[in-house]
Amino acid sequence: MRHLGIGLACAGFTVAAALLSATGGSSQDKPAKDAPSTNSAAKSEEDGKWLDAEGFPTYNIAADGKVDWYTYSGFRRYHSECHVCHGPEGEGSTYAPGLIESLKTMKYPEFMQVVASGRTVNRPDKTSVMPALGDNVNVMCYADDIYVYLKARADGALPRGSRPQRSGEKPETAIRNEKTCMGS
Ligand code: HEC
Repeated sequence: MRHLGIGLACAGFTVAAALLSATGGSSQDKPAKDAPSTNSAAKSEEDGKWLDAEGFPTYNIAADGKVDWYTYSGFRRYHSECHVCHGPEGEGSTYAPGLIESLKTMKYPEFMQVVASGRTVNRPDKTSVMPALGDNVNVMCYADDIYVYLKARADGALPRGSRPQRSGEKPETAIRNEKTCMGS
C-alpha cells in the first residue's frame, strides 16, 4: 500500500497545483476548451486536466478529434511502459489482459493500486505476474495520463489504429509536476 500512497499523492498534487495556477493562466493555446466534447463524463478542467463527476481524471476529445494533452501523453507512455505485455493500444496479448476491457469496469483507484503494487495470480496453467511499478518514475509520474488514454480507448472514444493528435501545448502544471514528481 505504500506505493499506492505515492501514486495518489502525485495525483492529488496535480489537482492542487492546477487549482493554484487556475487564476492567472492564459487560455489562448487551448482551442479544445470550448469545443463540444465527445466525453460526456468530462465535467471540469483546470489547466488542461479534465476530471469526471467523481473527481477522477478523465480524457477530453474535441469535435475535431484532437485529444487533451494528458491523453496524448498517456498514449505515448502506455506504448513505452505497458505495451510490451498488454499489447498495442491496450488490446491485450497472450501474456497479459487487454486493459481496454479491464477499464470498462475497473475504477481509477483500483487501477492505480494494481499499477503501483502489482499482482500475482497463480492459475492452473501458469503464474500470472503484473509487476509492481510504484517505484518507477516513468510510470507513476504519468499514471493518470496512461489511465485517461486507456479510458478513452475503453469507452470507444479513441478509435483503434489512430495516433492521437493533441489539441494544445503541454500545460504548465504538467511541466511543473514532471520536475517535482517523486523527487525526480
Ligand atoms: C512484465 C509484463 C507487464 C508489464 C510491463 C505491465 N503489466 Fe500490467 N499486467 C501484467 C499481467 C500478466 C497482468 C495480469 C495479472 C493477473 O492475472 O491478474 C497484468 C494486469 C494488469 C492490470 C489489471 C487488469 C485486470 O483486468 O485486472 C492492470 C490495471 C495493469 N496490468 C496495468 C498495467 C499498466 C498501466 C502498465 C504500464 C504502466 C502495465 N500494466 C505493465 C503484466 C504486465
